[in-house]
Amino acid sequence: MSITELVIRRPDDMHLHLRDGAMMRLVTPESARDFARAIIMPNLVPPVATVAMASAYRSRILAAAGDNTAFEPLMTLYLTESMTAEEVRHGHETGLIRALKLYPAGATTNSASGVRDIERVMGVLETMAELGMPLLVHGEVTDPAIDIFDREAVFIDRVLDPLRRRLPGLGIVMEHVTTRNGTDYVRSVETGLAATLTVHHLILNRNALLVGGIRPHFYCLPVLKREEHRLALRDAATSGDPRFFLGTDSAPHAVHAKENNCGCAGVFTATNALSWLAHVFEEENALERLEAFVSINGAEFYGLPASGHHTRLLRLDQPVSHPPELGSGDVRVRLFDPGFPCHWHVGNPD
Ligand code: NCD
Ligand code: ZN
Repeated sequence: MSITELVIRRPDDMHLHLRDGAMMRLVTPESARDFARAIIMPNLVPPVATVAMASAYRSRILAAAGDNTAFEPLMTLYLTESMTAEEVRHGHETGLIRALKLYPAGATTNSASGVRDIERVMGVLETMAELGMPLLVHGEVTDPAIDIFDREAVFIDRVLDPLRRRLPGLGIVMEHVTTRNGTDYVRSVETGLAATLTVHHLILNRNALLVGGIRPHFYCLPVLKREEHRLALRDAATSGDPRFFLGTDSAPHAVHAKENNCGCAGVFTATNALSWLAHVFEEENALERLEAFVSINGAEFYGLPASGHHTRLLRLDQPVSHPPELGSGDVRVRLFDPGFPCHWHVGNPD
């Protein structure tokens, strides 16, 4: 008998972009409706680099979440070369800051304030290791000589592995891992290293981006990879291995900024992430391991109990339809749509 209904602990999204202003007000309810908590990315302009900024941003997010009062944003700080150990200690003591995010300067959207020379942040990283505060890494090198499809693998060799060996006490999450090299590396390390996986990288390979016309709404960073890598990611996500958990990397950009001569990177999946994940786990005959991936493993990594609320996923006979876009005017975003039917409906029994 195939599974047509699943009740799981309310999921957490351990990598989420909510932006600010009108865009934040548009997209926050989409996550707050389906997720218990989310690790909030700090790549605003200017970056969320102080505890005071994170606190103010958290208040704006809660206001934008509206009726979804149970939603808890878990705040991070943007690691700049001028970050101080005192600020990190302060963030830890207040309980507000859960992690710091390392963007190699130039690697992705709003990463210009990121790290150019890791030596300059070693003092802060040592403090984080001492406090048990994890470092979240955008794992791509920015060396122009390195092909964009190889940037994750080269980051592991040049940056991540040396850093881990130098500071074995530092907890690290490889965010939005996109390659077999990444999943193999995470599996090779017993403790202190985990990875988030996105919905879109589990569903699409780079052909979806480039065959039959260029699809700006499938363009994200790290860029989609070849099929062999997508299969490795699906294997990791559905394995039940506690080192892998959901981080949607839902990254809204206005339609005009995506459909552009120089289109922005980011796929907006907040609204239908769970429906599509149920679809993937059903295809892999792994629905009984969906809860570990979305509701248990990430919470455990961050030292949190699993949510006390529940979510019901129902497989409907008819495909579930989502609107193609949300918002209007300049603040309009296109929802992730891989172009085939999805039958999973998401509801919240409590
Ligand atoms: C993200 C964004 O738009 O903020 N874009 C993306 O393609 N994933 C940044 C990021 O996480 O790299
Ligand atoms: Zn991201």
